Amino acid sequence: MIYWANDVYRLGWGNTTLLKFFPQSFYQALQLEYKLASGMAFHFVFMWIFAINGLLYFLYTIFSGEWKYLVPDKHSFKEAWQVLLHDLRLRKTAPPQKKYNAAQKIAYSAIVVMGLGSVLTGLAIYKPIQFGWLCALFGGYEFARIIHFTLTIGYCLFFIIHILQVIRAGWSNFRSMVTGFEIENKI
Ligand code: HEM
Repeated sequence: MIYWANDVYRLGWGNTTLLKFFPQSFYQALQLEYKLASGMAFHFVFMWIFAINGLLYFLYTIFSGEWKYLVPDKHSFKEAWQVLLHDLRLRKTAPPQKKYNAAQKIAYSAIVVMGLGSVLTGLAIYKPIQFGWLCALFGGYEFARIIHFTLTIGYCLFFIIHILQVIRAGWSNFRSMVTGFEIENKI
């Protein structure tokens, strides 16, 4: 709804456009046109929920000590590659898995950094004069807006891949993700 008001981003070179964010049909199908003001209103409501939730999650991981399972170590990038190959069924042996595997560690830590990035770039484009220094830190207004937008596409990709992985891991895994415990069948 917000982006429709000035949809400048595209993938392409010169006058050739491969993909435009977003095609006209996308706006029409979802009836997103001419709704900038309500888009901004929705955005700020959900931004608060997202930001407060993110802050509470961050504080919880720090004070509970959970961060130790989440922060990647020096082996994580190599292992994450093995996880990818295993998930794509190109590698037979499963890589080492503790509470989270290396790909999860990287993804779950990156999403926290991305959240902080959204809040900071959001502030930069919300008050580019008052937060001029922040805007400059992100390479100016235009670039801060690009980062703000790209991060959102990143959340969408994260969400889709995450849901696919959860479906793959099965119902019992999903239940334990929501409740925090797992019921073992001891028969
Ligand atoms: C927390 C997660 C956030 C997400 C996922 C998010 C997502 C988005 C998206 C998708 C847009 C439309 C992109 C565009 O038009 O370029 C947008 C626009 C905007 N966001 Fe956020 N946002 C977040 C947080 C914030 C915060 C914390 C602020 C400031 C306090 C903020 C301020 C703005 C402003 C001012 C715009 C309008 C930019 C424009 O004129 O295009 N956002 N946001």
